[in-house]
Amino acid sequence: MISATVFNRRRQDLMQLMGDGVAVISTSSECVRNRDVVYKFRPDSDFYYLTHFPEPDAVAVLSPGREQGEFVMFCRDSDPERELWDGRRAGLDGAVSQYGADDAFPIEDISDILPGLLENHQKVYCNVGVYHEFDAKLLNWVNEVKAKSRTGVRAPHEIVDLSHILHELRLIKQTEEVNLMKRAAKVSAAAHKAAMQCCQPGMMEYEIEAELHYEFRRGGSHYPAYSPIVAGGKNACILHYTENNAELRDGDLLLIDAGAEIDCYAADITRTFPVNGKFSAAQRDVYDVVLAAQLAAIDHAQAGSQWNEPHEAALKVIVQGLIDLNLLHGSVQEMLETEKYRRFYMHRTGHWLGMDVHDVGDYKIDGQWRQLEPGMTFTVEPGIYIPNDDDIGPQFRNIGIRIEDDVLIQREGHMILSKDVPKSVQDLERLMAG
Ligand code: GLY
Ligand code: MN
Ligand code: MN
Repeated sequence: MISATVFNRRRQDLMQLMGDGVAVISTSSECVRNRDVVYKFRPDSDFYYLTHFPEPDAVAVLSPGREQGEFVMFCRDSDPERELWDGRRAGLDGAVSQYGADDAFPIEDISDILPGLLENHQKVYCNVGVYHEFDAKLLNWVNEVKAKSRTGVRAPHEIVDLSHILHELRLIKQTEEVNLMKRAAKVSAAAHKAAMQCCQPGMMEYEIEAELHYEFRRGGSHYPAYSPIVAGGKNACILHYTENNAELRDGDLLLIDAGAEIDCYAADITRTFPVNGKFSAAQRDVYDVVLAAQLAAIDHAQAGSQWNEPHEAALKVIVQGLIDLNLLHGSVQEMLETEKYRRFYMHRTGHWLGMDVHDVGDYKIDGQWRQLEPGMTFTVEPGIYIPNDDDIGPQFRNIGIRIEDDVLIQREGHMILSKDVPKSVQDLERLMAG
C-alpha cells in the first residue's frame, strides 16, 4: 500500500507545476448495471493517483497557497443508515484524518462552496471532457464567479486540461507504483500458469476464464484490469474477443490476454499455447516468429531508445518471418513500404501500462517519438493473425498468436515484470505436460 506521504508529495509536485491555478478533480460515480444493481465501483485513475480516496462522488480541489489549507475534499458525509446497507464511508472526518485533506465538505454543498475556491485564480485545471455533467457544472461555477466581477473579484479566464501535466507525472512510475505493478504481474502470471495447467480439449473458454478470475481474486485483486480474452482457434484472430463461450478443440491454439488489477495498477499479459499441450509444425513456425519478434522488441526496451524502436524491431522480424513462411511475397523493404504485412499484423507492438491498462502519457513530443526513460512501463505485444482465406496454406489458416509482456525501463536495461509466465515452445509444452 502506498503511504500518505507519497500522495502528499504527488499533490505538491502537481501544485508546483500549476502556477496561478486551482485544480478541480472529480472521481467517477457509481454506474447502474440494471435497475438497482450497480457495477462494482472503480475510482477515476487521476483522482486516485492524487488522493488514494476509493469512494464514488468525490471532488478534490488543490489550491496552492490557500491559507486554510491547499487540499480541499468534497465527499459523501457519514450516514449510519446508508452505511448499514451499502458499506462504510470515510466521511468528512476520514477525508481529513485518513486521506490528508486540509478541509472536507459534503459533496451536496459543492455548488455553494466551490465558486469561492475559484475566486482570484487565473486558471482552473480540470480533466476536460471526461465527465460531461461535471464539466457543465464547473463552467457554471466559473460563470458565478464572473458575475461577481463588479465586486472586485477576479474570475478565472483559462480552463486548462489537467492531463497535460498530470499525465507526465503518471508516466514515470515511482518505486511504490512499480511494487504494485510487480504484484499485479505476479498474480496474473500465476493465473496464466494455472490456465495452462488445467487446459484440455473439450473444455469451454469460460472454464479457463473462471480459472483466471479465481487466481486473480485469490491473489488479492478486486477485478481484472480489463475483460479477459480467452480465445480458442479462430477466435484468437478477433483482437478484443471477450465472448469466451466456445469449446476448446484438440489441435487448436488458445490465446489468453488477461491481467489483474492491484490497488488500481494493471498487468496486461498475453500467452498463446496449444489446447492439447503440443504445437503442430505450422503453429510452432508461426509462434517462433512472434516470439523472435517479441525478443527483438524487448532488446530495444532501453533508456535512451525511442518509443518506436521496439515496434520497428518487432515488425522487421515479423515481416521476414511471414516472407519465409510464404505468407508474404516480396522484399522486407517492399512489405514495410506498402504495409502489406497489415493483413497479418494490424496493431502496434505496445502501449504505456500503469493505473490504466492503456495508460496515459504522450508517445510523441514535438512530433518526434519520445525517448524511453527509467520508470516508464509498457507492454511489448507483437502478434500474427492469419485469416481463413483461400490463398493461404490450410495449415496456417485461423492461427492467431500474440505474446505480451510488461516491461519496466531501468537506468541500465529493463525488468520484465511478467517474466514468470513461460513463453518458449519448449517451456510451454513442458508446463502443460507436467
Ligand atoms: N489487453 C488489451 C491490450 O493488450 O492492449
Ligand atoms: Mn496490451
Ligand atoms: Mn493485453
